[in-house]
Amino acid sequence: MMNLASPPQAGRPEQILLDVRDLRVAYGKAEVVHGVSFDVRAGEFVVMLGRNGAGKSTILHAISGLVPKRGGTVHFAGQDLSRVAPRETVLAGIVQVLEGHRIFQTLTVEDNLLIGTYARAPRGDRTKLDRIYAMFPEMAERRHQLASRLSGGQQQILAVAQGVIGDPQLLILDEPSGGLAPLVIDRILEVAAQLCAAGLAILLVEQLVEKALRHANFVYLIETGRVAAADSAQAMRDGDLVRRVYLGGGKHDS
Ligand SMILES: Nc1ncnc2c1ncn2[C@@H]1O[C@H](COP(=O)(O)OP(=O)(O)OP(=O)(O)O)[C@@H](O)[C@H]1O
Ligand SMILES: [Mg+2]
Repeated sequence: MMNLASPPQAGRPEQILLDVRDLRVAYGKAEVVHGVSFDVRAGEFVVMLGRNGAGKSTILHAISGLVPKRGGTVHFAGQDLSRVAPRETVLAGIVQVLEGHRIFQTLTVEDNLLIGTYARAPRGDRTKLDRIYAMFPEMAERRHQLASRLSGGQQQILAVAQGVIGDPQLLILDEPSGGLAPLVIDRILEVAAQLCAAGLAILLVEQLVEKALRHANFVYLIETGRVAAADSAQAMRDGDLVRRVYLGGGKHDS
């Protein structure tokens, strides 16, 4: 059910960057995403909310080509990505930072960052490092340390930096807050907001509703594999829909 009182698309940029239509995904015979349609527009910060198991990560993995689609289409910046492999989605300009900072523990910070450039430069592109170190000074200081020596929060920042170094047009972040301290979460969302201000589109999945809505301009609410609501972040902040949905179900933050 859309909130018809305020037209959901009002105030959004016109240019659609990521366009997902009627997406269906199944694990074996069990379909868990039942025809999801949504879009991310140029320069937007879109948040996808939903309880545990709603299908958020599955939707993201299907976009990135990490799980097969049972049906539906994905278009990005005019290209049809409905049937491509993960590397091609990266080349098209979509980078996804997976849930639970998947970085290489036994490599240094710098080598982890270089891995983020491999899709375009198989031997790594060192010319990208300076800009990333300027953006993430905490990584510059630790560039020669093993990733395993970083705190959980620093590892998550490294995972985000590893995504950003790949020069995406759309950065997808799957619950970057997972298990981290509030200050670190704020830092990561702050970085995402800065990247968005610099022209990158952001698609963020997050359970910390208030924090996520602070930076977002548009929100999709996913319930059991369907889009249950779509509206501006302002309307979501002002309304009680999110509170109702999360009552007793999601995590609360402030
Ligand atoms: N590899 C898998 N094999 C089978 N079922 C899976 C697999 N991954 C997820 N599922 C199921 O698909 C449904 C959607 O899971 P998904 O991880 O997409 O949810 P989510 O919204 O990301 O949840 P969370 O907030 O806990 O990360 C759940 O019922 C889950 O148990
Ligand atoms: Mg998930």
